[in-house]
Amino acid sequence: EPCRDQDLGLFEVTKRDGAARIGRFYTRHGSFTTPALLPVVNPNILTIEPMEMWEEFGIEALITNSYVIWKNEKLRECALEEGIHSLLNFPGAIVTDSGTFQSYVYGDVEVSPEEIVQFQREMGVDIGTMLDVFGRPDMTREQLEKAVDETAERAIPSLEMAGGTLLLNGPIQGGLHDDLRAQSAQIMGLAEGQDKGFAIHPIGGIVPLMEQQRYRELFRILLASRAALPPDRPVHLFGCGHPMLFPMAIALGADLFDSAAYAIFARDDRILTPEGTVKLESLQEWTFTSKSLFGYTPDQVRSMDDKARCRILAQHNLEVTQAELSRCREAIRSGTIWELAEQRSHCSPQLRDAFIWLQDQLSEPDEGPVGESVLRLISSCDPLRDGGEPIGDDIEYRPHILHMHALVATRWRVPGSWWDSSTGNPKRVALVEGASPPWRHSILQEVMASLVEEPRTVVMIATPLGLIPFSLEDVSPWCHLVGPDDMWIGEYDDEEIQASLSEFGLSGIPVTRISPGEADESEADNFESVQDWLDRCSIVDKLAVLCSVHPLESCKITKGISVRRSRTKRVINVLSDGEHVLSPRLTDGGISLTLAGARRLNELHTSPPPKFGADFPDEVFSGIPRICIIDDAIPFVGKGRNVIHGYSLGADPHLIPGQPCLVVDSNGSLVAHGTSLSTALDVAFMRKGLAVKVREGAMKGV
Ligand code: GUN
Repeated sequence: EPCRDQDLGLFEVTKRDGAARIGRFYTRHGSFTTPALLPVVNPNILTIEPMEMWEEFGIEALITNSYVIWKNEKLRECALEEGIHSLLNFPGAIVTDSGTFQSYVYGDVEVSPEEIVQFQREMGVDIGTMLDVFGRPDMTREQLEKAVDETAERAIPSLEMAGGTLLLNGPIQGGLHDDLRAQSAQIMGLAEGQDKGFAIHPIGGIVPLMEQQRYRELFRILLASRAALPPDRPVHLFGCGHPMLFPMAIALGADLFDSAAYAIFARDDRILTPEGTVKLESLQEWTFTSKSLFGYTPDQVRSMDDKARCRILAQHNLEVTQAELSRCREAIRSGTIWELAEQRSHCSPQLRDAFIWLQDQLSEPDEGPVGESVLRLISSCDPLRDGGEPIGDDIEYRPHILHMHALVATRWRVPGSWWDSSTGNPKRVALVEGASPPWRHSILQEVMASLVEEPRTVVMIATPLGLIPFSLEDVSPWCHLVGPDDMWIGEYDDEEIQASLSEFGLSGIPVTRISPGEADESEADNFESVQDWLDRCSIVDKLAVLCSVHPLESCKITKGISVRRSRTKRVINVLSDGEHVLSPRLTDGGISLTLAGARRLNELHTSPPPKFGADFPDEVFSGIPRICIIDDAIPFVGKGRNVIHGYSLGADPHLIPGQPCLVVDSNGSLVAHGTSLSTALDVAFMRKGLAVKVREGAMKGV
């Protein structure tokens, strides 16, 4: 099915997990889901027929080389006469490369940049590629600058030649230089022909790095390039097709891969697995099976003639590649793509080295484009997840956990008043040790007793991921850690505790330790007031940490609160002056606002609604993030329809995917509230797909 005219070349993100995204790209030969592998088809040697790829392997888009076709008179004439889809007998989207790789291998090509784009257009290609200049990693900086400049100079003439129907790849060059990669990304991202800009940005010049397994440099290049690329276009890793690399590349924002590996490896009797490559010659049993190999033994495959063996191994390799991409997409859906990358990092020492380098970047980002990209990756992760969080050596570097820790470190504050209505600085910290979640059951009595004894007590919990305030006890990831029971035995020494407390602004305050089973029932009289205060603290702290609402403001909202509890004593509704304003989310400890709650939070905003291009006040508590929409969208969104990309005037920069946000008009009046599915950058660039999943419109009954 061809896409609608207005969707041609658009990229829609349907699910994201940090920089990783599931998307759909629209062409005249159907839309295809990303992350995807474009199998390389050599029109001279069809190891697997394109139609078989479509019918048997679920391949929605493939890539072939326009220069190879152009060079061969018979193929060229046939392609021009019948079109590329008929030549290859493939009904899906066809991507073509331009001959740049041939110029890298053979030194030159005999075609001009305009000619090869014209040829791709005339063959009816869906997504062509301009003739970029291959920047080898071993080139001097001057040579690489020249490759970037020359590629940039060819960009506009190529886009002009492509016209309105041929979508075009705008490759990024720059070798190993972060600044050149970012510069190339910036120029290519901004380039506009009369009809349009580039549709996809492949990262070029990386094949030599993959051949030499220099993965650290490969991922560095991906990060540096992404820092300056518009988020509304897929990013393609040119020549990367080993499934072992997919999870890490996808976690860093790669959307497309292409490779002839499935066929080349098969010709060489090599078998792909998600964990590496194995040689057929040494196998007695399959280490990784597939539909293609099922029913055969390695011996039987070895005894096949060359053609049959190559075919069956190529089919297996393609199956494994597709299966790993399915696994990656599922991991994005379940919020575990980083965990999958973590697992795959153990497949090769070079990959592990790259992963450890990435973890260093996540905890201490470099200055410059790589660091910018890493910070953007962390801040675009939904910090909350439902479901278990398996403990492991690398856990503290998982981006959503780093995000949660950063939010708590910057937005959590010591309570402004205590359960007995006293005010002033805390007198002590009560540190919960040796208790496992749910802490509201395992340690509540001891916490209450401690607060009764000294009302000005800040209660903190020792978790394997560090100390957390008791008010966030039901928040993931801390309450969902999965591991051996003994992980809850507090193992922090005094020095570590002091260091951690100082990050919460609690330096120099005496610490008492409390453990399960030490409760003193005698003070039970005051427990109700203490419980009410704990409930308020939890709401105030969650509004601060997850929604950027100033604690003093939330204190006003929670002043007259009452709560409704479930049979298991969990707060399910929070009412302020009798009005239901929010509900804690039981699955992940987050917050679900009601319309009344959204109205109250919107009233706290004193600054004008966000506008793209305007300056934003740089404050810790900027209020719940807002998206400002155009007037035309108000009647729909106000009645509860979702906010669609392309209808916004601005978004607050602290918008977090997965967390609550408000939708307002250009006067700042509330139109709706919901869950953001995007970052502010996405809202500024994307033209298709959902920006906000609306919970309730503010003009429902109007
Ligand atoms: N295939 C592999 N690398 C490249 C590259 O840098 N540019 C183009 N056009 N194709 C490639």
